[in-house]
Amino acid sequence: MFFKSIAAVLCSLILGNYVAAKEPLSLIDAVDGRFDMGVGIGSQAFRLPENRELVLKHFNYVTPENCMKFAATQPVEGNFQFEKADEFVELAHRHGLKVLGHCLIWAKDDRTPEWFYRDGDKQVEPEVLMQRMKTHIETVVQRYKGRVQSWDVVNEAIGDRNDEYLRDSVWAKLLGDDFIVEAFRYTHELDPEALLIYNDYHCHEQWRRDRMERLVKKIQQENVHIDAIGIQGHYNLDDVPYQSLEELLILLRKLNVKIAISELDIDMIPRNGWWAEGGKNRDQLAKFNPYPDGCPPELLDRQAEQFAKLFDLFEKYEDVILRVSFWNIHDGESWLNTFPWKRDNYPTLFDRNRQPKPAYHAVIKSLTRSIPCCEYSKMAA
Ligand code: GLA
Repeated sequence: MFFKSIAAVLCSLILGNYVAAKEPLSLIDAVDGRFDMGVGIGSQAFRLPENRELVLKHFNYVTPENCMKFAATQPVEGNFQFEKADEFVELAHRHGLKVLGHCLIWAKDDRTPEWFYRDGDKQVEPEVLMQRMKTHIETVVQRYKGRVQSWDVVNEAIGDRNDEYLRDSVWAKLLGDDFIVEAFRYTHELDPEALLIYNDYHCHEQWRRDRMERLVKKIQQENVHIDAIGIQGHYNLDDVPYQSLEELLILLRKLNVKIAISELDIDMIPRNGWWAEGGKNRDQLAKFNPYPDGCPPELLDRQAEQFAKLFDLFEKYEDVILRVSFWNIHDGESWLNTFPWKRDNYPTLFDRNRQPKPAYHAVIKSLTRSIPCCEYSKMAA
């Protein structure tokens, strides 16, 4: 017993120092193959050597932030633009990173180039819209097949209002959920090796969870191939929905689909107020920038705890979680510095100098807790 305790103390001291050291393990080392570790990154940002170094050290999967979306790849019918996406995929490929093709269809009206919906002065006929969708999918998938390991086939189709199944969009109005089923069917035909994902946000909310279940069942009943659900994971400080998220993980496991946590971040200046009460607080919020000179340390500590608790949960479901991807490589690159208003935000694991934040150390600690030495020290304690 005495020797066991000594061994446990030595072990936890060594590990403690290891984890607390300035340049500890990388995320990819710490996760040790239990799931992929990814990050969403702008094509411009990926070009910067100092960002690339960080990406290569910590991640094995990359998501192009914008350059593969249809506004970038087919802004005008038939006029495909692949320069940025080509460069992104080539760079990733050269460095041995896996790529998520994000996204083939973004089922939101304000994210769909107008021409998709128009036929001269009239609204497009449903069959033409379906054909345009297929042409788009075919052109993009065939170009990157074999170099893109997974596709977000459809992004954000589920409704925001609790009285709707799919969001109010021309896609849903003209085609119901058939466009989703067909998008999956067609992508699988074109690229049978690729992993196919439906990606959306806030699916932990009960009513959105129900719609997600309906959609997955519909695709499965049609005998169409779907591998996984992307849970975006854009959370707010002090408001991470652990319990309902766990309920969602349980549901997806039961539905026999895998899971990707696809766009993880924790907003330090929560944005909910922007949409509340018909947007009446927007003028005030547009001037709200509480931390222009850096984030208060106590907030960073709370963020660290909350990220770690999320990883504790992900590890519990590692049998179904395929990948965890952060959204943006460091705080300075985060979309939450400008969306939905301009502010200095701190939602990622790395600061503006690309240095690990408390959140990074907390995530490493959560990921390494289960290595055998640690388990041993816990048992012996
Ligand atoms: C959604 C999309 C992403 C990205 C983020 C914000 O979650 O899926 O591609 O646009 O919004 O940057």
